[in-house]
Amino acid sequence: MKYNSLRPRRLRISPAMRALVRENEVKVSDLIYPIFVVPGTNVREEIPSMPGCYHLSVENAVELAKTVAAAGIPAIEVFGLPEYKDEIGSSAWDMTSPVQRAIRAIKQALPDLVIVGDVCLCQYTSHGHCGQLCGHYVDNDATLKLLQKVAVSQAQCGADIVAPSDMMDGRIAALREALDENSFQNVTIMSYAAKYASAFYGPFRDAANSAPEFGNRRQYQMDPANSREAMKEIDLDMDEGADIIMIKPAMTYLDIVRQTRDRIDRPIAVYNVSGEYAMVKAAAQNGWIDEKRIVMESLTSMKRAGADIIITYHALDAARWLQEGVAW
Ligand code: PBG
Repeated sequence: MKYNSLRPRRLRISPAMRALVRENEVKVSDLIYPIFVVPGTNVREEIPSMPGCYHLSVENAVELAKTVAAAGIPAIEVFGLPEYKDEIGSSAWDMTSPVQRAIRAIKQALPDLVIVGDVCLCQYTSHGHCGQLCGHYVDNDATLKLLQKVAVSQAQCGADIVAPSDMMDGRIAALREALDENSFQNVTIMSYAAKYASAFYGPFRDAANSAPEFGNRRQYQMDPANSREAMKEIDLDMDEGADIIMIKPAMTYLDIVRQTRDRIDRPIAVYNVSGEYAMVKAAAQNGWIDEKRIVMESLTSMKRAGADIIITYHALDAARWLQEGVAW
C-alpha cells in the first residue's frame, strides 16, 4: 500500500464530514445543574470564587430552576446552607431547612424537572465533617442512621434522586433500606461512589461554608493516588444497590471514568467540581482562554471517557452554546 493512501484527514475535510464521523457529543439532556440555597428571602448573591453561581433564597431558587428547565436541562442538584449547625448536623433533615423547602417548592412549580438532593452532613455540622464524631474520628455506623434521615426527608419533599456524598461505608444499603421502608422505592440513588479527597472542592467549601474545623477528609474520601480502590468502592456500591455511579472530580479523574465504563453497565455520572469551574472562569475573565471552547472540549472529554451524566456549574452556559451550535 502506498504510504499515503490511508489519509485520516479525508474525514476532517469539512464541518459536515466531521459531524458525520464524530464519536461523542454532549447533549443538553446529559447535564445536571447544581444550585446553592440559603436562608432568608430576596437573597441573590454571587459566590466570589464561583462567578456566575449564586446564593439564592428559596423563591429565587425556584426562579432559577425555571430557567434551567426552560433551557432543556433535565435535572437540578440542590445544596443548602442551613439556619443552624450542631454536633450531629440535625438541620440536614429539618423539614423547614432551605434545602427541604427548596425541593418542595421546585417540585411544585416544575413537576417534570428531576431534583437531586445531596445527602451529606458537612454543611450542617458545627465541626464541618461529613458525619457524627467520636473524638476526632467520624463514626461510620452512627452516621449512617443520620444519613437515612436526610435521604428520607428529601424524598418526602419530592426529591427524585438522592446523592450521598459522605463516603461512609455501607451508606447505599442503608439509604435503600430507609427509602424502601418509607415507601420511596422509586427514589433513585446516585452514589458518589469514587469521591476523592480533592483540593478541587475549595470554592464549594467557601460557598457552602463546609470546610472541616480540624483535620481534613482523608479518613473517608479517597486518596487521589488510587484507582484500584475506586473499582472496589464502585463494586460495593453496585452490590448495595446504587442506580447511578458517580466519579468526582471529573477532569483529573477521567482515567477512573474510563476504567469504570469498561467495567459496569449502569449509568455513570461525573461531577465537574467547583475548583475545575473556578479555574476556567478565572482564566476566561483574564482573557487567557476561550471559555466556550474550553468548556465544551472539557465536557466532551468527559463523554469520551464514558460518562453519561455531567454535573456541572457550566450547565446553563453549555445549554445555550449547544443551542447556538458549537463551532469545533
Ligand atoms: C459535600 C460535598 C462537597 C462537594 C459536593 N458535596 C464538598 C466536600 O466533600 O468537601 C463538592 C462539590 C464541588 O466542589 O463542586 N460533602
